[in-house]
Amino acid sequence: MRPEPVSPPPQESWPMFERISSRYDAVNRILSLGMDRSWRHRLAGKVTGLTSGRVLDVATGTGDILREIARHGAAPFKLYGLDRAESMLRLAREKFSCLSSRHVLFLKADAMHLPFPSDIFDAVTMGFGIRNMPDPSEVLREIVRVLQPGGRVFILEFSLPANKWIRLAALLYLRGVVPVVGGFFSGNIKAYRYLTRSVEHFPCGDDFCQWLRQSGFSDIRTEPILWGMSSIYSAQKPGTIQQDPACPAV
Ligand SMILES: C[S@@+](CC[C@H](N)C(=O)[O-])C[C@H]1O[C@@H](n2cnc3c(N)ncnc32)[C@H](O)[C@@H]1O
Repeated sequence: MRPEPVSPPPQESWPMFERISSRYDAVNRILSLGMDRSWRHRLAGKVTGLTSGRVLDVATGTGDILREIARHGAAPFKLYGLDRAESMLRLAREKFSCLSSRHVLFLKADAMHLPFPSDIFDAVTMGFGIRNMPDPSEVLREIVRVLQPGGRVFILEFSLPANKWIRLAALLYLRGVVPVVGGFFSGNIKAYRYLTRSVEHFPCGDDFCQWLRQSGFSDIRTEPILWGMSSIYSAQKPGTIQQDPACPAV
């Protein structure tokens, strides 16, 4: 039942997210039985343990990763969330309405052409986003470019468990439950069939680490979550980070 590796979506996926944005968070909670929050929380803990500077969340969607980082950190973060779907960004801005734009900024842009100068972010995060990019390699190269030397990327993504019985159970859930339940609650069964297909075909574990290496990252680490149903990958842009205590806006 092991799928063929590496098949990114041939087309842009963001218009689909425009259509399901109003139910996106609720369906995430239902399909993950509430666990998706703790996964983002875990990723946020890694970021805040490492840096207090500028953080960019690529494909931020409704901003849940940045919200976890903001909850974790008393540090003087400057947070940037980027996505192409305006309706997802609108929900993200609502969640952060109590924070000033000096602390958090959401912008509509393409992950394959990040609208930032090189070497400015201390950390870049991406949750369930890389799988949805037409050209994930280009996105990884862009992330390397905008990170400071020594800065780290943290990527949370679905993966398939290595144990064959757990993988079988995961595939049964993905194929049997996700399209039906996701389709019912979102009103868009196509979106959740796409979710199943994309998870099955996206490289995970060592295959994805190899991709990170080829994009220019070093010190690559993987942390499987829930027997490998999801994974947090982290990797460093070679070099030494320059701390910027004032952290001015870019
Ligand atoms: C599965 S959602 C993930 C949202 C969020 N990071 C989370 O943790 O729930 C994928 C997001 O990628 C965005 N997206 C897809 N293609 C994009 C692109 N080319 N540039 C920027 N964002 C994109 C979609 O609009 C969507 O919000």
